[in-house]
Amino acid sequence: MDRTLTLLGIESSCDDTAAAVVRAGSGQPEILSSQVLGQTSLHEAFGGVVPEIAARAHAERLDGVVEDALAAAGVTLDQMDGIAVTAGPGLIGGVLSGVMLARGLAVARGLPLFPVNHLAGHALTPRLTDGIAFPYLMLLVSGGHCQFLLVKGVDRFVRLGGTIDDAPGEAFDKTAKLLGLPQPGGPAVEAEAASGDPKRFVFPRPLLDRDGCDMSFSGLKTALLRARDALVADKGGITVQDRRDLCAGFQAAVAEVLAKKTSRAIEMAGEELTALAVAGGVAANKTIRANLESVSAKSGIPFIAPPLKLCTDNAAMIAWAGIERLRAGISPTMEFVARPRWPLDDRAPALLGSGKKGAKA
Ligand code: KG4
Ligand code: ZN
Repeated sequence: MDRTLTLLGIESSCDDTAAAVVRAGSGQPEILSSQVLGQTSLHEAFGGVVPEIAARAHAERLDGVVEDALAAAGVTLDQMDGIAVTAGPGLIGGVLSGVMLARGLAVARGLPLFPVNHLAGHALTPRLTDGIAFPYLMLLVSGGHCQFLLVKGVDRFVRLGGTIDDAPGEAFDKTAKLLGLPQPGGPAVEAEAASGDPKRFVFPRPLLDRDGCDMSFSGLKTALLRARDALVADKGGITVQDRRDLCAGFQAAVAEVLAKKTSRAIEMAGEELTALAVAGGVAANKTIRANLESVSAKSGIPFIAPPLKLCTDNAAMIAWAGIERLRAGISPTMEFVARPRWPLDDRAPALLGSGKKGAKA
């Protein structure tokens, strides 16, 4: 029987200041609290996350968010079996704020400290929510990440492929901007697409003809810009229906690329998978989700999409990754540095570029 463990998790790698307390024994793990303080309003005017503003906001807010998480869970620091903190990849100022606070608390209270890779947090979430066994395929799709990970163990990840430029969330956000829709762009574009014709504008499906499961989304945005400009040149502007059709065409292209590359990633995994799991804000998109569900049904494996608040950035996934490490016998350590880039799979070739929401790793 597993010993009951309670960990505090701290996450500050992008634009969410988060702390959570997770408890796990022999049954279903319990999220005792999960506080997420977003920074959307601080960055809104700049059209993207400003690293310096994010770092300062994390530094100012982390103490309070940790206190709130402990209070909401009804526990004190002394009742913790350890602290887990995101040590990268991400915007370095924010990561450092979290790491310094976690180190200070761990030293002051004599608690074991577990540095956690933010992407490992996302990748291990289906085990927190659904208790699935290794190995499974994880598709991470958000504003900053887009990659296929074969998750073989707590610390064993094989990156099968990923975007070579923009993350899909970034592409949704840029599309929204080009069409005068509000940010974050994903939900706005999805709402418009619901009453649009996905066949009127046929946008490119980049890299589908290429082997492997790497993806590219930046050309899609350029194609959309061209289609919009052609309409403007032609008619002096775009109508509401034009906008809906552009959104529907764009969404259909992203959904098709993700689905086709997912089938390919399942083949590339080359072993029997327990599930296809998704994480990241883009996984909220109903068309994308439906496409992925049908891919997993065709492959005969369950489809797992954790609740949205655990798919997007949060600290419960970090606390859980700490529990996984403790259980796997991985030693806690004070000897680590905060890392802006930290690929989960050291053997995979480096991905190009860095998203506006931070390192894609
Ligand atoms: O995982 P997330 O909350 O944050 C990070 O990227 O770290 O993902 C946010 C991204 C944004 O780019 C947003 O536009 C996108 O997820 N998103 C969506 C939808 N909801 C959020 N994209 C497409 N369809 C949606 N319904
Ligand atoms: Zn994330």
